[in-house]
Amino acid sequence: MIYPIVKYPDPILQKPAEPVTVFDAELRQLVDDMFTSMYDAQGIGLAAPQIGVSKRLTVIDLSFQKDPEKKIVLINPEIVEKKGKQVEEEGCLSLPEIRDRVVRAAQVKVRAVDAHGKPVEVEGEELLARALQHEIDHLDGILFIFRLSRLKRDLQLRKVRKLQKAGEW
Ligand code: NI
Repeated sequence: MIYPIVKYPDPILQKPAEPVTVFDAELRQLVDDMFTSMYDAQGIGLAAPQIGVSKRLTVIDLSFQKDPEKKIVLINPEIVEKKGKQVEEEGCLSLPEIRDRVVRAAQVKVRAVDAHGKPVEVEGEELLARALQHEIDHLDGILFIFRLSRLKRDLQLRKVRKLQKAGEW
């Protein structure tokens, strides 16, 4: 099924998600539904809180359906290594129309488990490193606008309020 995307300021987006402890058919269905919901929303990354499920689960597909081997499922992920620095523009399905440059590590290594509870390790740089950090932030209740300077964040939040008032949020 396709879940609607939860938008800021829904509180589920701003609290840490619960670790996944049960690896059953229901979880695997949720993973499938997350990919479907992400593609439907034209996204390349989605974290479970963004569909209203407070679990430490995220999916990423930088190929956007073009290469099944690029599909990444991360459950209970942890960043175990960070290197360097990059500053690029980011957006988020939970903050439509809001984009800004965010400081991130240039390279990261992530340890997680897959939908069967099997350990996986993903190393990424550039866009993948950015996506990994952005999605894992979601699991900690951190939206990318809270990685901006206070001044920039306030500007973006003013934009959000304008869109809300106009009924475009
Ligand atoms: Ni996001």
